[in-house]
Amino acid sequence: MDARAHPDPASERGSPLLPQMTDDAFRRVVEYAPSAMVLVDTRGAIVMVNEQAERLFGYPRSALIGHSVDLLVPQAARAHHAQFRDGFLSTPSPRPMGAGRDLHARRADGSEFPVEIGLNPMPTEGGTLVLASIVDITERKRAQQVLEQALLEKTVLLNEVHHRVKNNLQVITSLLNLQANNADDPRLRDILSESQNRVRAMSLTPQLLYERKDFSKMDLGDYLYRLPQLLRGSYRESASRIELRLERPDTPVYLDLERAIPCGLLVNELVTNAFKHAFPPPRHGEITIELAREEDGSVTLTVRDDGVGLPDDFSLESVKSLGLQLVPLLTDQLHARLDMPTGGGAHYRINFSGQIPGAATT
Ligand SMILES: Nc1ncnc2c1ncn2[C@@H]1O[C@H](COP(=O)(O)OP(=O)(O)OP(=O)(O)O)[C@@H](O)[C@H]1O
Ligand SMILES: [Mg+2]
Repeated sequence: MDARAHPDPASERGSPLLPQMTDDAFRRVVEYAPSAMVLVDTRGAIVMVNEQAERLFGYPRSALIGHSVDLLVPQAARAHHAQFRDGFLSTPSPRPMGAGRDLHARRADGSEFPVEIGLNPMPTEGGTLVLASIVDITERKRAQQVLEQALLEKTVLLNEVHHRVKNNLQVITSLLNLQANNADDPRLRDILSESQNRVRAMSLTPQLLYERKDFSKMDLGDYLYRLPQLLRGSYRESASRIELRLERPDTPVYLDLERAIPCGLLVNELVTNAFKHAFPPPRHGEITIELAREEDGSVTLTVRDDGVGLPDDFSLESVKSLGLQLVPLLTDQLHARLDMPTGGGAHYRINFSGQIPGAATT
């Protein structure tokens, strides 16, 4: 019969050094522990091992008991090992060995493998023994490397995609700019310049994701802060008469990527309209963008101005111009509900779910 397959936990009984737990109980705990265990005395000699240790290191226990624990330590680490052991024994407490360092152990065939080791002091009459529990983390390390590599590749790919998207959008903006410069009709110039703004509003989303280094969600408050700054440049004349106010909650409101672009475009249309139509000179006024979290967890985005207001007979359903025709379409893409309180200037209230699909709720 193979002695290793059925070790007799009592075979090392009688050592005066063993901890004062009932001998048998202690041996059993160690023997049947799921990880490799090695009990070492103050001089570094192995007092006891379990079957997992025999298996892990490839030694029969007879080749270990009484020998130095250095047998299990890679050559390069032996010099420091005694020092570490003395350090541990001077302030003995259960703790992981070599916290923060990569530890390796050595098999009987000389091969080395990464390990995690927990140390437990065991006071006995003959001095403090150290019970080391050793786990082979080769697999974990390998899985971690595969993940790190995959993450690295993904980051490189995302950066590449980002730069391409950015370049393409810049090319489109430049083309529109060229066409606008060549257009004689001022109305056509305005149309082309607004298309340029739409492309810019679209490219702000990937830009923010890239700046934040988080491609899974967009901080909507950031977007709402940056977009009007972009638009101001295009409406310099009216912008000088217009105050912009942004109110947002203390904690960020995130939007998943599927909704980030439609939401951005929607705000772009509404804020552009306010710059363009709400304040005919010499009228002064204010555009307010407000982001609020409701009690039910949904988010309400309000865009309003205190300008001349929409025409009396205005209705979103019958509007013929592109901008406000886009509004219901973008609202649908955002899975949002839109209402337009009447009285005063233009006022849009857009309510949508604050949940990010797949994200843990906080
Ligand atoms: N905030 C506002 N204040 C006053 N009037 C507005 C406001 N927003 C829109 N309007 C009126 O509603 C009309 C339709 O707006 P809409 O955005 O559809 O078209 P546009 O801004 O003229 O052109 P575009 O299609 O390029 O957006 C505007 O021409 C304007 O008369
Ligand atoms: Mg418009």
